[in-house]
Amino acid sequence: MNWTRTTKGVAGAAVLMLLSSVANAQVAGSAHDLSVVVGSQTNEVCVYCHTPHGADVTAVVPLWNKTLPSSTYQRYSDLQTSTLDGIEAAVGSVSLACLSCHDGSQAMDSVINAPGRGMNSGNIGTVGAMTGTPVPMLGTDLRDDHPISIQYAGGGPTAANADGVYGGTLGDPDFTPPTKATINTNPAWWVDSEATPDGIRQRTDMILYTRADAPAGPGDAREPFVECGSCHDPHNSSTFNGTAPNLSVGFLRIPNTNSDICTACHLK
Ligand code: HEC
Ligand code: HEC
Ligand code: HEC
Ligand code: HEC
Repeated sequence: MNWTRTTKGVAGAAVLMLLSSVANAQVAGSAHDLSVVVGSQTNEVCVYCHTPHGADVTAVVPLWNKTLPSSTYQRYSDLQTSTLDGIEAAVGSVSLACLSCHDGSQAMDSVINAPGRGMNSGNIGTVGAMTGTPVPMLGTDLRDDHPISIQYAGGGPTAANADGVYGGTLGDPDFTPPTKATINTNPAWWVDSEATPDGIRQRTDMILYTRADAPAGPGDAREPFVECGSCHDPHNSSTFNGTAPNLSVGFLRIPNTNSDICTACHLK
């Protein structure tokens, strides 16, 4: 991690380095620290994405401080590969949160509640929309991207299942059965990424996101879906040297050594 690029000072850097040995994940100083990426607009880091009050609730996204995009997307299923099994829902959930910057449709510093007293909606600075340089932009054509807002494993698991590892038949058996827990009566699913699964949901597991809006899903409408956040943790530091991105981390939940990310879900 290149802490010298941060504006947080030597003492802060030392503290962060100590902390990073405990939790190897920081937004500050990462490619998602917009005060570093685009020049200092504010010394707040989380505000570009989250607000403690007055967040957008039009999609299931935690305390989201941006207007979610209303873009029209071309989706993976539009490509019509013959092997796709899962139902693709409308582009939504946390993927829409990522796309509020990564589809290039709106200014990256346009927020609902800017720092300071009052609901100061508007732009924090003069950042503008994502351009695709230096990091390639997804844009609104998602046919060339791994499917998102896609039912996990061709369907099968529903909220009606017992907690624990799914024991039923998967719509596509070439997938690791997901694990389920019930939290506040809501189902939560993930795919354990450890060599010996520990049955506990961690940020280093492949997180599946509950969607209740899948068209014609079986049984209980709430099912596990794959979204951007299934593979990426937007808080897991990814260094950015000002000219070229360093994808050795790339906000991935786990390193993709030996394609560990892919084989956590796909039994290939
Ligand atoms: C670039 C955008 C971005 C920034 C900056 C960001 N977050 Fe997030 N955060 C997200 C998105 C998207 C999600 C939902 C996806 C997920 O499940 O991780 C999320 C989820 C969360 C969650 C719930 C999931 C979890 O991992 O526990 C917490 C808590 C959170 N963010 C806190 C923070 C804090 C604190 C900061 C500042 C230090 C921050 N975030 C900065 C985008 C961001
Ligand atoms: C969080 C689980 C998960 C992870 C991690 C994951 N995938 Fe997928 N992938 C899926 C799901 C679900 C589908 C939809 C499959 C279906 O419905 O047939 C899919 C679809 C695909 C498809 C298209 C299949 C088709 O029939 O058109 C390919 C290719 C693919 N994944 C490759 C990868 C690669 C390569 C990686 C690693 C970079 C990866 N996947 C990581 C869950 C995952
Ligand atoms: C507030 C705007 C914003 C949001 C929201 C956002 N990003 Fe980013 N993301 C950026 C910026 C800025 C960069 C740096 C590259 C650039 O400017 O071209 C970046 C870079 C990345 C990179 C490349 C990192 C590298 O080291 O090259 C990945 C991967 C990424 N984002 C994934 C995500 C995912 C996944 C989400 C949602 C969970 C998300 N982002 C949400 C603004 C955002
Ligand atoms: C199935 C897993 C998976 C999903 C789902 C996924 N990504 Fe990625 N993404 C990856 C991997 C793996 C890489 C690193 C690729 C590489 O090394 O070239 C990556 C790279 C990226 C990059 C950097 C691209 C570059 O070439 O610098 C961005 C930006 C990004 N993802 C954003 C997103 C966004 C936004 C979404 C949701 C719309 C998303 N990703 C969904 C696995 C995924």
